[in-house]
Amino acid sequence: MSDSTSHLIGLLLGTETDWPQAFETLTRRLGAVQHEGRRHELTTERITIEPFDLRAPVRYDVVIDRLAWWYYHPREWLKKAALVNDTYLLNNPFTFQAMEKHSAYCAMMRLGFDIPSTVLVPYKNPVDHEKWAYTAGTYNLPFDLDEVADRVGYPMFMKPFDGGAWRGVSRVDDPQALHQAYDASGQMLMHLQAAADYDSFARSLTIGPRTQVMRFRPELPMHDRYEVRHDFLPADAGQEILTLSRTINAFFRWEFNSCESLVTGSRVQPIDYANACPDIAITSLHYYFPWAITQLLSWSAFCAVTGRKPRVDTGSREWFDIADDESLSWNDKLGRYAGLADRYFEVGRYEEFCATALADLPGIVLDWVDSPAFDDLLVETVRGTYPAAEHDRFLAHFRGLIGSWVADQR
Ligand SMILES: Nc1ncnc2c1ncn2[C@@H]1O[C@H](COP(=O)(O)OP(=O)(O)O)[C@@H](O)[C@H]1O
Ligand SMILES: [Mg+2]
Repeated sequence: MSDSTSHLIGLLLGTETDWPQAFETLTRRLGAVQHEGRRHELTTERITIEPFDLRAPVRYDVVIDRLAWWYYHPREWLKKAALVNDTYLLNNPFTFQAMEKHSAYCAMMRLGFDIPSTVLVPYKNPVDHEKWAYTAGTYNLPFDLDEVADRVGYPMFMKPFDGGAWRGVSRVDDPQALHQAYDASGQMLMHLQAAADYDSFARSLTIGPRTQVMRFRPELPMHDRYEVRHDFLPADAGQEILTLSRTINAFFRWEFNSCESLVTGSRVQPIDYANACPDIAITSLHYYFPWAITQLLSWSAFCAVTGRKPRVDTGSREWFDIADDESLSWNDKLGRYAGLADRYFEVGRYEEFCATALADLPGIVLDWVDSPAFDDLLVETVRGTYPAAEHDRFLAHFRGLIGSWVADQR
């Protein structure tokens, strides 16, 4: 175990190398931080996958995970670390690894958010297994898909209940497309969800208690999806998205997550918000990358240095009590949710920590992003991401966006 003034942050990684290098570099450049009269050293280490004894100690104070959603072994290691070792995990593995989009829809509907009408239909092709044949014949009643779809209303989206990376998502405009999509769904379990019209597609990335709301253009290639545009939402819609993002996260004990909301005027319809450990690649976030990496480091440092205790329990009842209180208006409820979220995230203590222990961090990030070392990382990332013929074009594109971030900070 590390002593009280030395903290190890573990990174559980997939294929990406850009943000981990940024995170490691900035942790080194930050050096030791002072908190309540003590010096705290922070170091990082990439976690390897190995046999583990369920009682074995864990050396990491905090783990940032980008892998366990896809692989069972690291997923089960995280659960053991949470239960046996009290390791601080940015996302509660019992509500993230074990759940899906569907539960997040249900919870946010219960809290009163404006989720488009959504129906779960039984499998087109249920798993083939002896006992199911009896159950299916006896209890899985035939149903009229057209009648279900009429209740949802066209146009709609058919998409897997557990979602992710647009797999199996289709827009359905008429009964013919409905049957085609359902026939093609095979062994995926599908939602039918009313399509929402929108002026703006807002993607909000939340790390700890801080949220960046970005205008997203899903129809464009990845490198162009986040538009650099400030103040694109009416103030009340922007505020609702901030509250929504933190509410979902505090409700499920997620601290690194992104949400998608469709906004028309002041109306906010969230459609996808169980994206814990989202993509934060330089090539996706570009202008917003320095913000994301700063928050990730700040929140991890806060949790490690202050010894914040991980919570795998959820306090759903206190949220439901607000939701069910008929004397409260929607704005009152939003205010109460924001209050619960602030309490969960220890907002005051965190802001204070950032202003004192991490006072130098924004300058350190700015100097690094504006240095040849960052440009080397950008070049390496572009070379590793795009075909050779596109390197110059993409380098110019990202250098321009990063340059405008540097100019805006200065
Ligand atoms: N109800 C909806 N109304 C309008 N567009 C939708 C709706 N649901 C999904 N979409 C579109 O489909 C895309 C993928 O759906 P989403 O629920 O985000 O799935 P995934 O988890 O695969 O990202 C969204 O980014 C959006 O462009
Ligand atoms: Mg999505």
